[in-house]
Amino acid sequence: MVLEAIRYEQGSLQILNQLLLPHQTEYEQIKGSEDGWHAIKAMRTRGAPAIAIVAALSLAVELQDAKLSENAEEVSAFIVEKLNYLVTSRPTAVNLADAARKLKRVVEGASKASSSDGPSVVKAYCDAAAQMLISDVSDNEAIGKYGAEWIEKVAPGKEVSVLTHCNTGSLATAGYGTALGVIRSLHANESLKRAFCTETRPYNQGSRLTAFELVHDKIPATLITDSMASALLQLKGSSERITAIVVGADRVAANGDTANKIGTYQLAITAKYHGVKFLVAAPRTTIDLETKSGADITIEERPGHEMTVMKGPWFEAGRVDLDHVETVSIAAEGIDVWNPAFDVTPAELIDGIITELGVVEKGQNGKFDLTFAMEAHN
Ligand code: MRU
Repeated sequence: MVLEAIRYEQGSLQILNQLLLPHQTEYEQIKGSEDGWHAIKAMRTRGAPAIAIVAALSLAVELQDAKLSENAEEVSAFIVEKLNYLVTSRPTAVNLADAARKLKRVVEGASKASSSDGPSVVKAYCDAAAQMLISDVSDNEAIGKYGAEWIEKVAPGKEVSVLTHCNTGSLATAGYGTALGVIRSLHANESLKRAFCTETRPYNQGSRLTAFELVHDKIPATLITDSMASALLQLKGSSERITAIVVGADRVAANGDTANKIGTYQLAITAKYHGVKFLVAAPRTTIDLETKSGADITIEERPGHEMTVMKGPWFEAGRVDLDHVETVSIAAEGIDVWNPAFDVTPAELIDGIITELGVVEKGQNGKFDLTFAMEAHN
């Protein structure tokens, strides 16, 4: 099976329902922007790049069937309104807002062309949205390559073990992945001893999705709970010694502060304490130069039931029945719940930001200069 979160061809979009993984592999048809919005909100599709691409393509399939005006400006206004709606689905990952901004520019430009009409604006939109799916894979492969080379230089001539958090792989992107792309690349170079992945509470993207990808690709890998990370970093045995922690990002502010899945910040603190490198892997489109620092990033809060209820196969007396998936409550009824989906890691705890153009480190002033990302937003 090819790990594909998004299946698209002109007029048809399917997403792999990530709420059912790893127990069931089920694709769901997305017929338009409303389906796209709900799939993103409910996290049936998730991960910063995947959210942006699914949103863009959900509108592309809607436009194929819609009976639209022949007037280019009316069609452009219709598309802009739909994009504004899609952006409201999840607030923290900048990729979605960035994709919407670019697509608005495409349709506004197309509507002003001398021979433009409604269908030509739709075509310009659909071509640009489809291109986002293609570019994401090549960007991720470049991120994987640069990240692996950087880590290999930290421990020259040795196999390395790395720890990752959440899911940043083929399921969170158009393919290959960002932080998980770095792990894939280390494995392909035969320089990976072992990948460790956190469970990633409360929604378990690590144990359900990252572990699924690592097993699928036959990459030597071990699952830990989030609370085991510091204990792991204390180990000095040859296969457990962690050379680097590599995570993805939902938004990197202009100063390098990085919003990513809740639990990332504590990993960066423990990495600093143990002298382990801490790397963020993300395409330039995740770098948001308009957001000055982490304090300006909106952190999404998710419903409490994502923490207090869990889904899993029926289990009794050592027997697991994978065909029988149940939802169980794992918390005392009536307890108040705080469930922020992301946290912000201060730039001072980050050793490098891996992009498709290379790894950015801090300058002599101890600060990141991320202005090179500007052109990726044009
Ligand atoms: O809430 P999620 O599952 O969408 O959060 C995903 C993450 O935090 C990822 O690390 C991030 O989006 C990068 S995915 C390449």
